Amino acid sequence: MKKEQAQQQQSPCSFVIFGATGNLSQIKLLPALYHLERAQRLPADMSLFALGRRPYSPEEWKDFMEEALKEKLKDKFDPALFAKFATRFVYVQGELNKLEDYHKLKEALATPKMGSCTNVIYYLAIKPTEFGAVINNLDKSGLNKPRGLHRIVVEKPFGEDIETAEMLNGLLHKHFDEEQVYRIDHYLGKESVQNLLVFRFANTLIEPLWNRNYIDHVQITVAEDVGIGKRADYYDKAGALRDMLQNHLMQLLTVVAMEPPASMDADAVRDEKVKVLRSIRPISKRSVHAHAFRAQYAAGVIDGEHVPGYAQEEGVEENSITETFVAAKFYIDNWRWRGVPFYLRTGKRMAKQTSMIAIRFKHPPQQLFRETPVETIAPNWVLLSLQPEESMHMEIHVKKPGLEMDTRVLKLNASYLGTGEAALDAYENLLLDVIEGDGTLFIRFDEVEWAWRVVDPILKYWAMERDYIHTYPAGSWGLHEAGRLFDGEDQEWRNEV
Ligand code: BG6
Repeated sequence: MKKEQAQQQQSPCSFVIFGATGNLSQIKLLPALYHLERAQRLPADMSLFALGRRPYSPEEWKDFMEEALKEKLKDKFDPALFAKFATRFVYVQGELNKLEDYHKLKEALATPKMGSCTNVIYYLAIKPTEFGAVINNLDKSGLNKPRGLHRIVVEKPFGEDIETAEMLNGLLHKHFDEEQVYRIDHYLGKESVQNLLVFRFANTLIEPLWNRNYIDHVQITVAEDVGIGKRADYYDKAGALRDMLQNHLMQLLTVVAMEPPASMDADAVRDEKVKVLRSIRPISKRSVHAHAFRAQYAAGVIDGEHVPGYAQEEGVEENSITETFVAAKFYIDNWRWRGVPFYLRTGKRMAKQTSMIAIRFKHPPQQLFRETPVETIAPNWVLLSLQPEESMHMEIHVKKPGLEMDTRVLKLNASYLGTGEAALDAYENLLLDVIEGDGTLFIRFDEVEWAWRVVDPILKYWAMERDYIHTYPAGSWGLHEAGRLFDGEDQEWRNEV
């Protein structure tokens, strides 16, 4: 075997985080890597390279990391484990657009802390506007050579519309092969999302009901109680549609709606997801209002605490009309789903953190109990909660004990987690997949492209309507107006599992 081939088959043992002092690194990546250390899943010879702008000494970087991990892990922080974890790190001070800093990184990579190493994972935990500079500089400094050897992880949003996504993809392919590129959407790493595939395709009981004959509509909600924190420089240009709906919520929609794949291979699953995206009815310019609603949080109260409005957050442009809430309706024009509306909504500073998929079934064809205390029977629901608790419930009707013909709703608990079991964090799953070279839970470019195509008319329309945005008080469920998307009078947002 040639030396180069042998090297290519080794698993990567250097992991570089671009944007190591940023928000994503602090709240997701460092904790996930730390958890992998605790689970003894980080390869023993893996060195971690943190690239950031701040002029930190090794000690200062360690302190920074300790503080970030303590903040996130609270009493689960283990000082002894942290000491071991911290020895893997090298902090490299550098600017993303300065070529000489990549040479500095190259030198650091040549002397890894944990043994000799040639294969590197580059993780771009940075703003989308910075991706181009990093990819070009990786090439100019030779850090992507030999071609085919390293892996590169690109965070969402991948581009800011179809055109920029295509440009970014072209640039990536100029310097990396497709097999080296991992486009991450961490919602696909959530165990409850994977469980949905099992729920649908491992239970013959469910699949026959999963279509337009029985389902009235589907709701996908990702509500957060947090605001934008210190991310205004990114968020103010992105907004909720680009930050959440085009990727996370659209991925959830594809998992709910896809046909059974030929196998669980990465490409077989992705093919089915792309088919769903391609079947989404394009929204015409004239119907954007009927299909999408946006709003921005104003000051309000969350958990008894007064919080500022979006417009008052540090770094937000004056008179910004960036949306922090978006609700949208899509139709999937295929045999399974034609006529079933999919309602998606996501927002920051909402009443509470809740992510769920709620599937409402149709009313029974005949109201048999009309002459009894049961006037109209509420429809059945299947409720899949992703956060904060992971659970799955089916709501069915049973008779209330007693002489009268009355009913009550029983929640069948179909949760996959047993008592005391905890789901793995999405980032832990996905980082492990990158280390092990498994791309199944990562996004292929045509998925990104079609998801942009779906939201593009909304983006374009909103870009023209620049003088007004509705506001909702922080700590609420958004606005009444978001209800205008519903097709049926008996449809309304479901906020609780
Ligand atoms: C990120 C978004 O992709 O997902 C953030 O950029 C958002 O704005 C986060 O807060 C939500 O992730 P999770 O896993 O906490 O629901």
